[in-house]
Amino acid sequence: EKAKAAPGIYDVLKTAMNYYRAQLKTAPAAIEYLKSRGVEGRIAARFGLGFAPSAGQSLKTVFADYDKNPVIKDAGLVAEEENTLRRYDRFRSRVLFPILNQRSQVIGFGGRIMGNGAPKYLNSPETPVFEKGKELYGLPQARAAIRDRGRVLVVEGYMDVVMLNQHGVEYAVASLGTACTPEHIRKLLKLADEVYFCFDGDKAGKKAAWRALENSLEQLVDGKKLAFLFLPAEHDPDSYVQEFGQAQFENALLQDSVPLAQFLLKELSAQVELESEEGRAKLISLAAPMLNLVRAPAFGMMIRKRLAEL
Ligand code: UTP
Ligand code: MN
Ligand code: MN
Ligand code: MN
Ligand code: MN
Repeated sequence: EKAKAAPGIYDVLKTAMNYYRAQLKTAPAAIEYLKSRGVEGRIAARFGLGFAPSAGQSLKTVFADYDKNPVIKDAGLVAEEENTLRRYDRFRSRVLFPILNQRSQVIGFGGRIMGNGAPKYLNSPETPVFEKGKELYGLPQARAAIRDRGRVLVVEGYMDVVMLNQHGVEYAVASLGTACTPEHIRKLLKLADEVYFCFDGDKAGKKAAWRALENSLEQLVDGKKLAFLFLPAEHDPDSYVQEFGQAQFENALLQDSVPLAQFLLKELSAQVELESEEGRAKLISLAAPMLNLVRAPAFGMMIRKRLAEL
């Protein structure tokens, strides 16, 4: 008789997600926290939000082999004390955002502390099924809208995706706090002909936008559009859509977003004195190595034309 296959890493993560989801239903503080953030029940359900209790080994409830099953550790759900090898749950007293891959399998979690404290978000470590530079949070929930609208919007955070979705902007995904990698950009350009980036209005968000631009240059495809929407300094997409609503957000996205070529040359121009020959020469020398990365002929031509005009 064949032995039943041991649960794999995806099974273990799914069991954990279902456990955490059930815990949320009986955790008034977590429900209160989500309410205070404006999250509706239907959206919490849509994104599978959960809650990790404060106990050190709460996952024992669903894993009889908690102490020794290597898969539970490989999945990033527990940490082991160095000397005793005693295990404890990675996620405790946090609201959890399950991270799904494009086949809708659970591959990890992001856990937010309720209120102030550090780290604000604790994420799953890199595991055999979770490579941060490749995954886009919210993709399974966004896929139909991305196809229907022909556009995808990239934001920084879990809450940005969730609250945009709640307000009818369903084509948003998040790069999970890391910079948008070339791999991310490649995936995004396969998903839609228009890729919009809208990071936080703060300094970190501006920096993330520039990194996304740098990582896009080699991936550019003629006929596709990449553009950046910059929010007022005090906003991120979550706070913006809650304050101003879907229509104003989408108007801003279409009317105020800056196409990649324009963003590139505006940033470089700001570093030089355009009034002098030396300054203009410096602009060319700053732009050249970036332009050399562009393989899409029409894109390259268009940026060079704008550069010549400057
Ligand atoms: P933000 O600091 O902008 O947080 O980080 P947020 O998404 O606006 O969160 P709220 O609204 O305060 O709840 C953006 C993203 O960076 C990652 C997370 O993915 C977060 O959503 N991040 C941030 C971390 O992984 N760890 C952190 O400690 C902070
Ligand atoms: Mn931020
Ligand atoms: Mn933010
Ligand atoms: Mn936020
Ligand atoms: Mn609202």
